Amino acid sequence: MDKWQQQEFPMTLADFDFLRNLAYSHTGIVLPERKKQMVYSRLSRRLRTLSFKTFSQYCRYLETNTQELPEFINALTTNLTAFFREKHHFVHLDKQICPQWLANKQKRIRIWSAACSTGEEAYSIAMTLYGRIDLNLFDLKILATDLNTQVLETAKKGIYSAEVLPTIPANFSSKYTKPLPKTEHFSIKQRIKDLVHFKQLNLLQPWPMNGPFDVIFCRNVFIYFDSETKKRIIKKFRTLLSDGGYLIIGHSESINDFAADFEFVGQTIYRAKQRSAPFLSSHLQQLQGAE
Ligand SMILES: C[S@@+](CC[C@H](N)C(=O)[O-])C[C@H]1O[C@@H](n2cnc3c(N)ncnc32)[C@H](O)[C@@H]1O
Repeated sequence: MDKWQQQEFPMTLADFDFLRNLAYSHTGIVLPERKKQMVYSRLSRRLRTLSFKTFSQYCRYLETNTQELPEFINALTTNLTAFFREKHHFVHLDKQICPQWLANKQKRIRIWSAACSTGEEAYSIAMTLYGRIDLNLFDLKILATDLNTQVLETAKKGIYSAEVLPTIPANFSSKYTKPLPKTEHFSIKQRIKDLVHFKQLNLLQPWPMNGPFDVIFCRNVFIYFDSETKKRIIKKFRTLLSDGGYLIIGHSESINDFAADFEFVGQTIYRAKQRSAPFLSSHLQQLQGAE
């Protein structure tokens, strides 16, 4: 008998295939054979909670109970994140992108943190821009979305362990966070929270926003997708970005095969090229067709 049949919760090859196909079709996340242990341990908790004895029972349950799907997805996603993760992106936002907005006197600024996990990325963007942009003159909004409903609850609360406070630059943490008395936690101040709007969104499903966005952060999620999914999403990002808008991806990710609509700025930062006349006319035709 193979080792997966001898575990606390036996898992057959067919069970694993069912689970990974379900994950792929709903989230785009690819789960190769080497991720089997991870799948086993993340879902074991669900089996324990639901008092199932085998993965086959859990698979049958998933087939017939659609309300389990979000729990399944929440259990499977990897949500590792940090404040000011890949710091150079925030330096670029502060030193290169923000001065362009100020010089152009661009009033409306929209940023999207796509796959925001527990919110640290979106709050890092908000802290970077808060003191730089006069909110009486500029209309700044940060949309932060994720597939996982559980991480979004944490994100909306904006309460984090005091252990991670040193990852926020001291000049920001002193202004934009406050300790929560008698706890080992701190909270993000309301003025920073007010800039960020958290919503659930699956990158694989239709997006309700019209854009245009000036910057899209989509970091450390393409690593879970295959080329086809990446290609589709990058194309959609371009349609929602303004000309000259920025797409920022994670350090170990590459979109070079699908980046014809972008110029590479450096350090996993891309800039949307000017739209060509044929693109504009086909876009116009689509809009007219939709009327
Ligand atoms: C590793 S975290 C990255 C968080 C943050 N962007 C960063 O770089 O620190 C990846 C996030 O992608 C989300 N995710 C995975 N598949 C998704 C999908 N199809 N649609 C939206 N979010 C997805 C996960 O729920 C998870 O929170």
